[in-house]
Parts: sequence; C-alpha cells; structure tokens
Amino acid sequence: MQKIPCVVLGATGLVGQVFVWMLSHHPIFEPQILIASDRKSGEKYSDVVDWILPFPIPDNSKNTIIKKLDIEYLTKLGVRLIFSALPSKLAKTVESQLRSKGFWVFSNTSAMRYDSDVPILIPEINPCSLKLIEKQGFPKKGFVVTNANCTTTGLALALAPLIDTEIIKIMAATYQSVSGAGRPGLSSVDIMGNVIPYINGEEQKVVNELKKILKIDAQIFPTCVRVPILFGHLEVVWVEFNKPIEKQIILEKWENFKVNGLLSELQSIPENPISYESNEYFPQPKMSFLGSPEGMQVFIGRLNVVQNLASFVLVVNNLIRGSAGGSIANAELFLKSYESEIWTKL
Ligand SMILES: NC(=O)c1ccc[n+]([C@@H]2O[C@H](COP(=O)([O-])OP(=O)(O)OC[C@H]3O[C@@H](n4cnc5c(N)ncnc54)[C@H](OP(=O)(O)O)[C@@H]3O)[C@@H](O)[C@H]2O)c1
Repeated sequence: MQKIPCVVLGATGLVGQVFVWMLSHHPIFEPQILIASDRKSGEKYSDVVDWILPFPIPDNSKNTIIKKLDIEYLTKLGVRLIFSALPSKLAKTVESQLRSKGFWVFSNTSAMRYDSDVPILIPEINPCSLKLIEKQGFPKKGFVVTNANCTTTGLALALAPLIDTEIIKIMAATYQSVSGAGRPGLSSVDIMGNVIPYINGEEQKVVNELKKILKIDAQIFPTCVRVPILFGHLEVVWVEFNKPIEKQIILEKWENFKVNGLLSELQSIPENPISYESNEYFPQPKMSFLGSPEGMQVFIGRLNVVQNLASFVLVVNNLIRGSAGGSIANAELFLKSYESEIWTKL
C-alpha cells in the first residue's frame, strides 16, 4: 500500500521522538521531513537528538537530515500531513499559518485546543468531534485537530465509560513524571529526591479539556504535582455520583469499554482502552510502556466504592497515549473517515 508522507515538527523533543519511533514502523504514515530549531537543522537526526526512550533510534530515521521550519518549502514539497510537537507559544502562530496554507495538522500543543471549531479528539470517546474540521473548511481548506493534555487523556478515558451514571464531582491528585515537562525541563537540583506541588497551567487545562471532551457539568478539582520519575503519570481519582453505585457496576463498565466498528480498524487504538487489575500494587508508572499497542492503554487499579463515592488509581503513558500516540490515532481516524477526499489531494 502507498504510504502517506508526513512531517514531524519538533522531532528532536520528547514528544517528537515518540512520533519518530511510532511512525518508523507505521503501516500507512511515513515520516519524510523531521523539523527542529535552527540550531539543529542541517544535522543528522541521530547526531543531535537527546534520545531518552527505552527503545533504540529507528534505523530509518538515524541518517535523516533535520530541516528548519519553512512553510514555503513544505508547501512546495506537496506534503499535507503534519504532526506537531512544538512548544505551545510557537505553535499558536505556526499551526494557524499551516492551516491557512491547507495543511492537515495533528497537534499535541495546547495552543488551539480551546477554539470552538478545533476538536480535542480522543477516538474512543468523541470520534464525532472530528467533524469540526469541516467547520474549519476541510476539504477545501486545511485544519488543526488536537489531542488532550497528557493528564486529561488518562482521566477522560477512565471516566468516559462512567458518565451515563451521573457524576457530580471529580477530584484528582496527579503524580506527574519529569518527561511531561519536555526539554530542558526541570533541573536535577530541583527535582531529585523532591516533589514539586505545582505545574503551571496544568490544573486549568484538565478542567477545561475534560468539560470539552466529556461534555459534563460536574465540579472538577485536580491538584497536579511533579514527581522524580522519568515516564508515566499516576493519578489518584475520586468520583462522586448522584446516587449510590456498586463496585461491580464500575468494573463492568470499564470491562465493556471496547472499541468496535471503524475504530477497531485503527492500528494505534487498543481493543480495550482500559486495563484494570485488582492486584493492590497495580498500576505503577514503570508499567506505562506495556499494553497493546505499547503505551496506548490506560492502566487502572485500587478501585474502592463507598455508597456514591468511588476512588481509583490510574497510570497513563504521557508521551505515547498522552501525546504522540494520541495524535497518530487521531490521524488514523481522519484517514478512515475521509479516505476518498484524502487520496485525491495527495
Ligand atoms: N512531554 C509531554 O509529556 C507532553 C504531553 C502532551 C503534550 N505535550 C506538548 O507537546 C509539545 C512538545 O513537548 P515536548 O515535551 O516534546 O517539548 P520539548 O522536548 O521541549 O521539544 C520541543 C521541540 O520543538 C523544537 N523547537 C523549538 N523551537 C523551535 C523552532 N523555533 N523551530 C522549530 N522547532 C523548534 C525543539 O527543537 P530543538 O531540539 O532543536 O530545540 C524540539 O524538537 C509542547 O507543546 C507540550 O506542551 C507534551
């Protein structure tokens, strides 16, 4: 099958590396152009990337020469599909310019997440929100599709199967890994043997994004904290329902949360987006690269229920499910949903 060439913006960053790794063995998308800052352009990818993933740099990207960001050049090349892992401030301008030039942008950044015509897409939860690209002008024009913030993604997937049972309050305490802060991130002096009780902007993102994705009216109180682990965010969640609920009902809702139809044809979507285990020591951030596809499942354990209150612990891989993997799954859904329009434009 002919592959669809794509561009990775921010390819040397932490999310960008995951794009490069996942796309290197993707059956449909092919990373043709890797873009980083001017400082690294012209260099061989393997020479300048600070690779931190627990897998080797893919052979087919090692020798790729990094390009600088030049929208005119990309326009001339004729590629359409862009995966963006740029810093948010830069993304605001760049992504809207790319959209106006007709590119299809799948973004990890928060820059445009809250625009009313831009979806925050999680295929297992709100696949219909992809239709917002038509409001942006697709197929005649380009568009931006975002995925949720890494913390929100885990929480949204855990809560989605429960929202038909009315939720009135959601509280969460998050224990977030340092890879969530990107590069250069936190200094080792600040984080080693320490916990930092504040992540700038994170709590408001969780509130706004959960409301947009789940369309719920519940009160949401997250407290987001940085802890000295490398990968994976752990979240302790408390949910208050409007009436008593049985533990078994919640377990069944998670168990029955399976993808079917068109979603089951997408390579990066797990058959069971949630994996629950009753072992008291489950889940732990060091497991976040497990699952099938790797890093795409949300692991949940420690469910306790007392009358109308439930608590549980989840782990989400912030770099895969919470960022690059989420974007790739979104692009797969786009491809399946608009196949005929896409191929005529490539
Ligand atoms: N880390 C996470 O867990 C996570 C989760 C969800 C969403 N996000 C979002 O994803 C985005 C990327 O995060 P990250 O953690 O990967 O950040 P990062 O490690 O700091 O990487 C940033 C990337 O952008 C590139 N870049 C910076 N300035 C540039 C410029 N002027 N032109 C072209 N490229 C430029 C960098 O290139 P150089 O290497 O050359 O500097 C690097 O490749 C952010 O918006 C972040 O909020 C991150």
